[in-house]
Amino acid sequence: MLSKTIESALNDQVKMEAESSQAYLAMASWAENQAGLDGVTAFFYRHSEEEREHMLKLIHFINERGGTAEIPALAQPRKSFANVQEAFKTLYEHELKVSDSINQLVDLALAEKDYATHNFLQWYVTEQMEEEKLARDLNDKLELIGQDKSGLYLFDRDLMGLKPHG
Ligand code: FEO
Repeated sequence: MLSKTIESALNDQVKMEAESSQAYLAMASWAENQAGLDGVTAFFYRHSEEEREHMLKLIHFINERGGTAEIPALAQPRKSFANVQEAFKTLYEHELKVSDSINQLVDLALAEKDYATHNFLQWYVTEQMEEEKLARDLNDKLELIGQDKSGLYLFDRDLMGLKPHG
């Protein structure tokens, strides 16, 4: 059985994953309207789907452990970006916030001696490490590319088949 404290913290995380999914959906839609960003577009759509899966996993866990998952209202995500660099920088910064939030949840689970939740959260800890690394790598590449159009072309092509968690 979940304590009220853990239930509430897990529901906050449901919201955060939902917001991530919406934020990346908005990035995908923005990219889809830019010329020649098919790979970037596909990457953001896939990433949005993955975040939805992260959210669903939490919802099922809360409900299966005797809590009540809450489906939250969401704020309007950012709709447009100056360029690909700015979109990926925003994604990276967002993932850092998610990692921070997961780490705080892990701390809380330990403090509450909720070992089942602690165990469940390990999947998210690993996922965040992978997502952070990928986002950092992509930002590094974009920094090298700068405004070079052929570099951007190759970057976009490479993203076509790339999974958001690497
Ligand atoms: Fe599920 Fe990328 O945070």
